[in-house]
Amino acid sequence: MRRRSERHSALRPARAGRAARNERIMLDLERYGGEILHSDEMEKAFQQTHHNWSTVGEHTLRVARASLAICYALRRLHIRTDIPAVVKASLCHDLGILGRYEKFSGNRECYRQHPIDSVKIARALANDLSEKSADIIERHMWPAAHSKRPNTLEGVIVSSADKYASMKDFFLGSSIRHTGPKPFLHRILRRK
Ligand SMILES: [Fe+2]
Ligand SMILES: [Fe+2]
Repeated sequence: MRRRSERHSALRPARAGRAARNERIMLDLERYGGEILHSDEMEKAFQQTHHNWSTVGEHTLRVARASLAICYALRRLHIRTDIPAVVKASLCHDLGILGRYEKFSGNRECYRQHPIDSVKIARALANDLSEKSADIIERHMWPAAHSKRPNTLEGVIVSSADKYASMKDFFLGSSIRHTGPKPFLHRILRRK
């Protein structure tokens, strides 16, 4: 049986790899999405609840982080992706949902309209927003009904990361508001 110190030293490369990846994610977010990250809209995003337990802001960062992690993994397979387009699109994809209870009549309208509103906000925040980024944002609800399919690899990446991050929102909740899986699970258990 391996000694405790040996087990810890075996974990060190994995931890170092994660730390390096997190550092790279932060650098890419700042480099290609700095103007979006530090905008008033992003500040408001951390005030609005999203997916029951999270906030739009935390969900946004989860999507951006997962999208970039997929891009880095694909790079190791020699598949190149457009990182600036992924950063801008993932950071803006849900900004159109801000103020949803005032501007949309219900969930159906919100599902259909918020990607279009997000594109408008993205164009206002990032002068150099590419058509690819706009397409990623507009199609990010895929594979939900009524959503257009992504037309680029980057679109598939952000749409997939969005679904993965949504699950995390439901199960991990918000670190700011200290909500999380417990209230969610309690509610399910009470229904039984
Ligand atoms: Fe969305
Ligand atoms: Fe989203």
